[in-house]
Amino acid sequence: MNTQFQLGHINLSLQRWPLNQPNHSLQAWDAADELLIEAANNAIDNFKRHDTALPQLLIINDSFGALSCALAHCPQINSTDSYLAQQALAHNRAANGLNDQRYQNHDSLTPLPAHADIILLKLPNNHSYLSFILSQLASISRPDTVVLATAKAKDINRNVLEMFGRQLGHAEASLTVKKCRLIRCQPELGKPQPQFPLKWKLDDTPFTLINHANVFAREKLDLGARFLLQHLPVDIAGQRVIDLGCGNGVLGLTLLHTHPDLQLVFSDESYMAVASAKANIELNMPQCLAKTEFLVDDCLASQAEQSVDQIICNPPFHQQHTVTTHIATQMFNEAKRVLKRGGRLRIVANRHLNYQQQLNRLFGHCQQLAANPKFVILEAIKRS
Ligand SMILES: C[S@@+](CC[C@H](N)C(=O)[O-])C[C@H]1O[C@@H](n2cnc3c(N)ncnc32)[C@H](O)[C@@H]1O
Repeated sequence: MNTQFQLGHINLSLQRWPLNQPNHSLQAWDAADELLIEAANNAIDNFKRHDTALPQLLIINDSFGALSCALAHCPQINSTDSYLAQQALAHNRAANGLNDQRYQNHDSLTPLPAHADIILLKLPNNHSYLSFILSQLASISRPDTVVLATAKAKDINRNVLEMFGRQLGHAEASLTVKKCRLIRCQPELGKPQPQFPLKWKLDDTPFTLINHANVFAREKLDLGARFLLQHLPVDIAGQRVIDLGCGNGVLGLTLLHTHPDLQLVFSDESYMAVASAKANIELNMPQCLAKTEFLVDDCLASQAEQSVDQIICNPPFHQQHTVTTHIATQMFNEAKRVLKRGGRLRIVANRHLNYQQQLNRLFGHCQQLAANPKFVILEAIKRS
């Protein structure tokens, strides 16, 4: 993996998170980061012509800390929905000796600071989340706030520019540079904003689901989840169960409905996912709150060895913009560590991913419990 970042006079060593990923061709920054860093440095120089202090930066959605590290000479607040991105940022800042007091790390649900001179945004590919971010920016921006955003050129279309225009102010995109474009937006005051989180009734159940803007399947039930809901474990009274990669918590919520005495842990690396799961138990099964936990975590990192009876999981197949199975693999390996002897991991997966072979190798066996044209339900039991 190329870890040496070089741009003008900036030299950094940057790694993706988690460390030691199997795909060595991936790196911790992209051309959109480079474009944003160059534009930010021009904006910082411009600011310094009028002001003796350094500008306050607000950085949103930094993938692995490249923006934060490259612009470490300015005070900055970093906001992200991803626990992994926060881990990467802290790791890369420390690795480059940038452990100073000049930065703060906020999660996506912490209100933005009241003031920022320059706002730097890596566009998320989820338009609900972009809309949520724009609504937050609208509440803190002034007409002289510099707002810069980047993404791959293919992800910047008329829709995206119109969304900026509707919620924050007139936006224009640069010509394409290394397949990326830069958006400059001129904030205007008093734009109307959409409401988050999203709420909908789950078909054929008594549940209403609350979905924060960046949660997976925020607008409707995922097809894989729908299939797993038909094949959830039974006879699990009183057990300790983890809904791993819980999203809005629909799997755990359904299990609690039939087994209200479970000790259920909802765990995800997205702050908005964990907040959605919590809101859904509070709304639909408040009597179970005392026995449930809500955890932002990297897979099962904070779980003790041999401490869990059941893990249910609809594993992720991408990290940020990259399609990958390495997080699913990490989840399976860690499931084997935290399951008690006799404990079970039950997953839903796209047929073509062939996780059965992987689980067979890891657990010594793996049973296919059900299948439809698109998905399989697999179960592995920890025997030793
Ligand atoms: C396919 S979605 C499933 C969500 C939900 N369980 C459902 O079925 O609708 C996968 C989930 O895994 C989460 N995830 C991704 N990487 C993770 C990690 N390293 N640790 C924990 N959760 C992760 C994602 O945020 C996402 O919510």
